[in-house]
Amino acid sequence: MRLENNQKKRRTKWWVALGATVTILAGASLGALSAYNWSPEETIEGLFGTSIQQSFTQKNHEERNIDEDVKEITRTESNEETEEPSAPEDGADDSQTAYPDEPERTPETMEEPIYIKGVLIANKQYPLPTDYAPGEDPEARAAYDEMQAAAAEAGQSLVAFSTFRSYEYQTELYNRYVEQHGQEEADRFSARPGYSEHQTGLGFDIGAEDQEEHWASDSFKDTKEAKWLAENAHQFGFILRYPAGKEHITGYQYESWHFRYLGEELATEIYNSGLTLEEYLGI
Ligand code: DAL
Ligand code: ZN
Repeated sequence: MRLENNQKKRRTKWWVALGATVTILAGASLGALSAYNWSPEETIEGLFGTSIQQSFTQKNHEERNIDEDVKEITRTESNEETEEPSAPEDGADDSQTAYPDEPERTPETMEEPIYIKGVLIANKQYPLPTDYAPGEDPEARAAYDEMQAAAAEAGQSLVAFSTFRSYEYQTELYNRYVEQHGQEEADRFSARPGYSEHQTGLGFDIGAEDQEEHWASDSFKDTKEAKWLAENAHQFGFILRYPAGKEHITGYQYESWHFRYLGEELATEIYNSGLTLEEYLGI
């Protein structure tokens, strides 16, 4: 009898120990997964040590075309930590920044690009003709070169890694992003063909030399080059085109690397106003 009781006690202890071990292991796994910012797709790939496909919202993604390189870049950084929320303010209406359901104009119907107050505009409401292909704007390039030299004197090493992009090239990029992330998400960081400011030859994506890991990435904003550009680019005629917290106005997530050439006077005026180009032009 005593023997039986002892056996029972031992068995009970064993079950208790087993139960505790299973609970601890399950808790530890859940903790690890949540620390990893869990999503099913990421966890499966992440655990096997392969590249992580993203399925979050609010990622920053871009493209490079240095030397006609069509290499794809997949970004993993989150845009959640930008200083300002990337959402409409109370009562704000984002219908002006989404692609219109029934567009008045499309790249196919456009004959000439649209200028508003003398400024060539390309955004979700104002497309460019499909065959508009001016190449990189020479005045913008000269201003960029001047800025690069000034930055070098200040100890910064800038690279313009994506400037003019043709309608055809933008088509490739955009379609690839839609395949990877779905259209709704792609529309937040990549322009549809015919709607990209890069097609004007006046949009410059700028990074720091030898820091490709930050190119077209949310992490660029924390580099000294990004800070220098944010403070100085207007003196050379460039504005930060898609600032943090203005997605409901510009139509795109914060891009700390995308600059638009407008000339020194206008760029400085817009910089001092604190407005986006859309707000400044009243569109
Ligand atoms: N990334 C910007 C919005 C573009 O595709 O033109
Ligand atoms: Zn860009």
